[in-house]
Amino acid sequence: MPRIICVAGARPNFMKVKPVMDALEARGAEVVLVHTGQHYDAAMNDVFFADLGLRAPDRHLGTGSGTHAEQTARVMTAFEPLVDELRPDAVVVVGDVTSTLACALVAAKAGVPVAHVEAGLRSRDWAMPEEINRVVTDRLSELLFAPSPDGVDNLRAEGYHDDQIHLAGNVMIDTLYANLDRALASDILHRYELTPGGYALATLHRPANVDDPAMLGALLTALGEVARELPVVLPVHPRTAARLELAGLPAGIRLVPPAGYLDFIALQASARLVLTDSGGIQEETTALGVPCLTMRDSTERPITVTEGTNTLVGRDPARIVGTARQVLASPPAKRAPALWDGHAGDRIADVLLAYLAAPVRLRPTDLRETVVGS
Ligand code: UD1
Repeated sequence: MPRIICVAGARPNFMKVKPVMDALEARGAEVVLVHTGQHYDAAMNDVFFADLGLRAPDRHLGTGSGTHAEQTARVMTAFEPLVDELRPDAVVVVGDVTSTLACALVAAKAGVPVAHVEAGLRSRDWAMPEEINRVVTDRLSELLFAPSPDGVDNLRAEGYHDDQIHLAGNVMIDTLYANLDRALASDILHRYELTPGGYALATLHRPANVDDPAMLGALLTALGEVARELPVVLPVHPRTAARLELAGLPAGIRLVPPAGYLDFIALQASARLVLTDSGGIQEETTALGVPCLTMRDSTERPITVTEGTNTLVGRDPARIVGTARQVLASPPAKRAPALWDGHAGDRIADVLLAYLAAPVRLRPTDLRETVVGS
């Protein structure tokens, strides 16, 4: 059976890699879980392994924090000898973090097929580091697993071959459904003395929102206004913690430590409203049927707006507060996009293993336009 490296590096990777690993191993593949070490704090890392039942990584690259170039270079430098040593049949990368891109680049140059899980998402905001990671990772990948039809459309428009593109559904939702009962048994609401439906949950960590003090101040003002209607609980990412200390907090916003996976799902599931700049939370709130306001100017996950509970609200405080009031008065109905059904990992494993077993494989040499024009 093939040997497949699955890469995880940062918090949002852990819940995406787990269902793919499980499905590959259930079909007899040898999976090597590689942790790049991009996230390392207990609150950003260890608790996710425990909550998700992820085994300890088979290999840990221990690369740690740094600038984008430093992180990318360190992950590449550590991953390259590992690929040489293990000679995997494929490398699976998930999501859009720096580790995703760095490992895809190493594997592609080593001639190892890359499978990208969560392919095709586009915010069209080139100022987002994740957008650059998404576009380049897709270009390096032989197999592109899109979570939703908009991802397929984007990939087709960019000239990828139809045989490379697979509408697989959303692996993050596989993990959500697999753990929902355990999450709902969490005692976090009790510990924080919250009542179901009696609070709003907020997260903020994107550089564009937290690095500029004026922008962070404006968003905190908006959250402070929402907190006049109902308490706002804000679990804090390490990136944001230092900035918040400087910015000062309006009354009614309650800072709590970053939550583990199960606790955070429990907090989302019982929130009356979620306000966020995260990607994955837009998806989880849609699957849970909880209203979400995304405090960004673009989303790479438009299906959560067209077929979910998300509203792309921008970053103007008046608009955020006005929309929050509207949504509190008349919340959107719950609906789930197709193939967000808990079986995306199975579909991905079937396609990847069939691909590796095929006698002749497609290589991502040229995009479609080039082939057609030649
Ligand atoms: C990364 C991802 C982002 C994702 C986020 C989720 C990229 C480009 N961005 O952003 O898409 O939404 O993770 O969590 O990969 N730090 C710690 N402890 C840790 C990790 C980081 O204190 O365990 C601090 C460090 O000071 C570090 C900073 O957070 O410099 C930023 O971490 P980094 O991994 O560079 O990016 P994130 O902002 O976490």
